[in-house]
Amino acid sequence: MSNKPGNFNPEIHVTDYRKEFEAKRVTRDCLISIDGRKTESLNGKWHFYADPIEYLLRGGWYKESRYDDQGREKPCDYDFEAMEEIKVPATWNTERPELFLYENMGVYFRTFRYKQHEEGERVFLHFEGVAYRAYVFLNGECIAMHDGASTPFSVEVTGKLKDVNRILVGVDAKRQDDRVPMTNTDWFNYGGIYRDVYFVRTPGTFLKDWFLRLVPGSGYSEIALDFSVDGSKSGEALLTIEELGIKEKVRYEDGIGSAVIKAKPELWSPESPKLYDVSLSIDGDELSDKIGFREFKVDGNRILLNGNEVFMKGICVHEDDVYLGKSTNECIIRETIRTVKEELHGVFLRLAHYPHTRLFSKIADEMGVMLWEEIPVYWSIAFGNEKTYKDAENQIGELIKRDKNRASVVIWSVGNENPDTDDRFAFMSNLASYVRSVDPTRAVSAACLVDEVGEKIDDRLADKLDIIGVNEYYGWYNPDFSKLGRVLKNSNPSKPVIITEVGAGARAGNHGPSDMLWTEEFQEALYMKQVKEIGACPFIKGVSPWILYDFRAQRRFNHYQEGFNRKGLIDADKKTKKLAFKVLSDFYKTK
Ligand code: GCU
Repeated sequence: MSNKPGNFNPEIHVTDYRKEFEAKRVTRDCLISIDGRKTESLNGKWHFYADPIEYLLRGGWYKESRYDDQGREKPCDYDFEAMEEIKVPATWNTERPELFLYENMGVYFRTFRYKQHEEGERVFLHFEGVAYRAYVFLNGECIAMHDGASTPFSVEVTGKLKDVNRILVGVDAKRQDDRVPMTNTDWFNYGGIYRDVYFVRTPGTFLKDWFLRLVPGSGYSEIALDFSVDGSKSGEALLTIEELGIKEKVRYEDGIGSAVIKAKPELWSPESPKLYDVSLSIDGDELSDKIGFREFKVDGNRILLNGNEVFMKGICVHEDDVYLGKSTNECIIRETIRTVKEELHGVFLRLAHYPHTRLFSKIADEMGVMLWEEIPVYWSIAFGNEKTYKDAENQIGELIKRDKNRASVVIWSVGNENPDTDDRFAFMSNLASYVRSVDPTRAVSAACLVDEVGEKIDDRLADKLDIIGVNEYYGWYNPDFSKLGRVLKNSNPSKPVIITEVGAGARAGNHGPSDMLWTEEFQEALYMKQVKEIGACPFIKGVSPWILYDFRAQRRFNHYQEGFNRKGLIDADKKTKKLAFKVLSDFYKTK
């Protein structure tokens, strides 16, 4: 019996319609550097409709074939030009009230004109962030499929363009247990093309990627360059750092070049965030950036920045805004960093729980804070699923490709609060090895949980980490605060520990006795007890309390929360400070 009976109608009977697009999957290997490149924006108004049964794919609407093979017009159920407009970049949840809780597919459409500028030029579409899966169609053809809500992807479209081009993007925001993150998260699942979209032209042979950094252990006197060239396979590049008197020619063969160059740069630090104007050029192409040079390393159980021991005075922050959802902007980022540096007296931000916009680390380089960046291997990921591992590895690979020239980024994190199972141990050990293979210049960490039975810090993943992150909520989720003292006394980690989460909920403006949950006084009193214990523990070398701002979460519904996680030191308005803010600020002033 054929599995396609005579009455099989693909439009209504097909079920495995997504399969064909797997062949168009784009990964970190397709990502091109846009550092210093002229880009042409595709931001602005796109047409949009919600497509919960994914007829863009299931019904082949992306082909826009309005006539049968006899040339007779067919009744089509779509008319992309007639769909209502939506802003790009933005999350549809904050743009359309009726889509606030919509977690399925949204379809974006626009046209754009193309005119060749240079003979032999190559053209790429570049998306900075599309949550979660993107199916990209150009003039009726699928050109890309990408997984990962928070990392960029590029796709080459050379030779596929006309004078006027039609682009459709199906954005699937579904939570799925085999995705990264999976269905259960304590943050809001926004959907959409929520970061910039660019059109990028390059010469036929162009600089695809580069990595420039201080050579660890070189006594701050050598910088290393690795770069890749797409197109002609051998030639000569020129690295220019005027302020250091560097004009270094570097050969490349088989598309790869590297060099180690003597240099004594002024070192980057939060106190003195020195950046150099750098350019790398080959015949006809150039990348440029502002790059800082510093050495961040672990020595025994100390954390050193440029050879000086540092206490990582930090705070966590989500990419979440009442009005912008998961989109953000320069003003919000600058105010966040200013608040942390100047008012909280911090030097460190944990960008939870996924890669934030590339703009954050660019501004952090300039303003001077250190960053922990992570991928959302969060809670119970499908650790035994090879596809899930590939997704996680690709997301951290795209993150590292994007931010590896950022001095502010000092820690890559491979996960958060994961159960200590064998599958998880293998999954995250492999991730840690992968991270070190592509970037040996930063620390690898993860936010682990306390062994509550043994009452100690004892996650076997610590063997694979440079810094042990530990989340603990004694005095909140575990009302027995005294347990913290026992856990610290029972623990003897051989590596530095950062308390990567600690805190309590409080509604701004809700006051009462310090033993009453959800009051500012309760949160304040807990912070006083916590900073006392943390400050007195010799192996704790940093803390990033949970969290700077209240943020949307789809499991926080009591009358204090009203759809927000209220552990912020500042209300979701990003202005109203709670009493506990000063406790942490005073503590950091002493460190
Ligand atoms: C966990 C988790 C956070 C969560 C926080 C909380 O530690 O890592 O994502 O928001 O606890 O419960 O508020």
